Amino acid sequence: MEWTTKKRYLPYNKWDAETLFDLQAQADQSQFQLHYHIRPSSGLLNDPNGFSYFNGAWHVFYQQYPFGPVHGLKSWHHMKSADLVHWEDMGLTVKPDTQFDSHGAYSGSATVINDKLFLMYTGNVRDQNWVRHSYQNGAWMDQNGHIKKLARPLIEAPNHVTEHFRDPQILKHGDKYYAILGAQDKETETGKVAIFSSSDLTGKWNDLGYINFTDKDMGYMIECPNLVFVDDQPVLIFCPQGLDKKITPYENIYPNMYVAGSKFKFDAGKMTTTQAAPINLDDGFDVYATQAFNAPDGKVYAISWVGLPDVEYPTDNENWANCLSQVKELSLKNGRLIQRPVAAMGTLRQAGHLIRTAKVIDGRQVVESHAGQQYELKITIARNQNGTLHLAGTHAVDHSLQLNFNTGKDAFFEIDRSKAGQTFNKKYGMTRKICLPENQALDLDVFVDHSLAEVFINNGEHVMTLRYFADQKNDKIALTGKNSLNYYGTFWNLADM
Ligand code: FRU
Repeated sequence: MEWTTKKRYLPYNKWDAETLFDLQAQADQSQFQLHYHIRPSSGLLNDPNGFSYFNGAWHVFYQQYPFGPVHGLKSWHHMKSADLVHWEDMGLTVKPDTQFDSHGAYSGSATVINDKLFLMYTGNVRDQNWVRHSYQNGAWMDQNGHIKKLARPLIEAPNHVTEHFRDPQILKHGDKYYAILGAQDKETETGKVAIFSSSDLTGKWNDLGYINFTDKDMGYMIECPNLVFVDDQPVLIFCPQGLDKKITPYENIYPNMYVAGSKFKFDAGKMTTTQAAPINLDDGFDVYATQAFNAPDGKVYAISWVGLPDVEYPTDNENWANCLSQVKELSLKNGRLIQRPVAAMGTLRQAGHLIRTAKVIDGRQVVESHAGQQYELKITIARNQNGTLHLAGTHAVDHSLQLNFNTGKDAFFEIDRSKAGQTFNKKYGMTRKICLPENQALDLDVFVDHSLAEVFINNGEHVMTLRYFADQKNDKIALTGKNSLNYYGTFWNLADM
């Protein structure tokens, strides 16, 4: 089917109910479907939005185009949870149905105000000449999940930005509200993070200019900026598009990065940092648009889109695409973000068993001969080892998702998805590699959900997230190396959420 612009922006009521039903059934039946991650009910999912705690529950929304695996007319799809792991589908909530969001209810955030959740999002509007206008809109969600949009936008694009001005994060600081936004500066055509303030939320918003957090050029556009305070230190998470790879190397089409600082002055729009360049938030293949927030329990939680703009995935052929990551808890160590699974992930574990160094048979050490496609593997590989951990392996592990490691001198960890089923996005490389401290044991906490792997390395010092699309019959976990390898760990099958 050809996805013309006209088709992508067809109002939802022009689609018949049966089409949607068929799309949902097709997504449900996919062998690659996720079982304990948030995935689109149909069509395409992208950014997490409005991640919050409200009325005794966790909430997150996802950007969705429900009618196919493409970026079309977007809405917010609401998910609710008691524990950040088991999510209940609350359906489409913020829809493109006003003159200020007619071509998409784009990304945004949420904050609790009195007994309501206040949503701030970008209304994407195209005029007759298909010129884009961005409005930063507000809406109230009550305790029953009903949405009431404000009649007028909160912020209109200032003269110093181009049409690329979106993804507001609303924050309360002192007695004022602040919004930070992704922007493209008109004069320089560079990516910026804009900041606005308001003392009464629905009245006047003051343009405070751009946030000063780096002296480097951040490419041509910044999407999804997100400010959190981790251990009281400001951390700005954002997606620079077109960033010079000499500033920070990355291989994905667009990276998701962060800068950690020591002070953040809201009214001056200034973040004090000694960090010379942004750092990749995830060292894998597929993370974008991460949204984090300071929760009332004192913790900082983050959730990411596992997918990237402007690239295709194999499930496009099945008319659905992408998922969200599991929720990650953030902390800081030596100025770097640590990301860990939340404790409640443990509730998905089924009877676990210990794994120990196995004998080499036919050149491999079998960890699990039938792991299934839904599990957690915690494994510690001793120091001075050199080899490969195969996931989703065939019997002879000639096809597998390969996790290559060296825990001796010149230590590294690398993920190679070139032999893990269908290949895709080859243009951006089939491997991702990080350096490790030399001569130290390597701790991996690996979560597999059919077509998604999230690998937490050394207690969250790195995370590598990726999609892969292997035959679901291939479910061997094994190790290969020149010599016999020493390791121990635990394996759990995980339940559906
Ligand atoms: C990032 C993004 C945002 C925008 C949204 C639209 O992936 O392009 O900038 O608000 O997706 O779905």
